[in-house]
Amino acid sequence: MIEIHELTKRFQDKKIVVTAVKHVSFSVKEGQVVGLLGENGAGKTTLLRAIATLLTPTDGSIKVGGYDTVKNPEQVKKRIGVLFGGETGLYDRLTARENLEYFATLYGLSKHETKVRIEDLAKMFGMRDYLNRKVGGFSKGMRQKVAIARAIIHNPDIILFDEPTTGLDITSSNVFRQLVHQLKREGKTIIFSSHIMEEVSLLCDSVAMMHKGELVYQGNLDALYKAEGSQDLNYIFMSKLVRGSEHYAS
Ligand SMILES: Nc1ncnc2c1ncn2[C@@H]1O[C@H](COP(=O)(O)OP(=O)(O)OP(=O)(O)O)[C@@H](O)[C@H]1O
Ligand SMILES: [Mg+2]
Repeated sequence: MIEIHELTKRFQDKKIVVTAVKHVSFSVKEGQVVGLLGENGAGKTTLLRAIATLLTPTDGSIKVGGYDTVKNPEQVKKRIGVLFGGETGLYDRLTARENLEYFATLYGLSKHETKVRIEDLAKMFGMRDYLNRKVGGFSKGMRQKVAIARAIIHNPDIILFDEPTTGLDITSSNVFRQLVHQLKREGKTIIFSSHIMEEVSLLCDSVAMMHKGELVYQGNLDALYKAEGSQDLNYIFMSKLVRGSEHYAS
């Protein structure tokens, strides 16, 4: 479903070259929920942006549902829903409903489809009370719920979330967690980045751990727990980073 092959992304920042992602390869099967872990600056957002066709790889390639992100970005875009932390992409002067209607139109949904979809999403997120209010006056959590609804308005098969629960309270974080469970039941493929280990261990089938642009582990969570003899993902993550750097230093 998603195949990342030897992905490298370099940024030229004045005279400094930053390699944000280095030779990363892994694939994600249909229906899997994958947690993307890594310290600040590890390359998580860069990797997600490249999958979402928002960045062109410096080297390597990515295929989504068989389509190359550089050669067939339109085919890829149709199949994915994306939400990047902090960028909700919503219009403050429009109501939640108007925002959702606007994005539904961009994806070519009919009026009827849009109405049904907005009702479903509003019910799922408990947004009914404020659907007709302007987003400009919304709290962070309310805004984030509308942003998540916007990201999946076209019912995509693949969903990419960059730190979806950062800044959300427990109730809103739980809404996100329930949503992931529901999307998983519907057979959706999800990759999300997070700094919250508990969230990843609760929701994910597998993890991808990044350190300074490199992939230090990718695979099934249960297999990882077994191999490490622990279910403490925080501990496992830290020890992988230490071992990862030793490995790279040698
Ligand atoms: N547009 C850009 N121009 C220059 N450097 C960039 C750009 N985007 C990302 N980088 C650099 O690439 C590296 C990886 O950044 P990225 O945002 O992917 O990290 P991250 O894992 O998402 O971190 P965080 O947890 O802080 O969100 C960093 O060194 C960052 O400064
Ligand atoms: Mg990031």
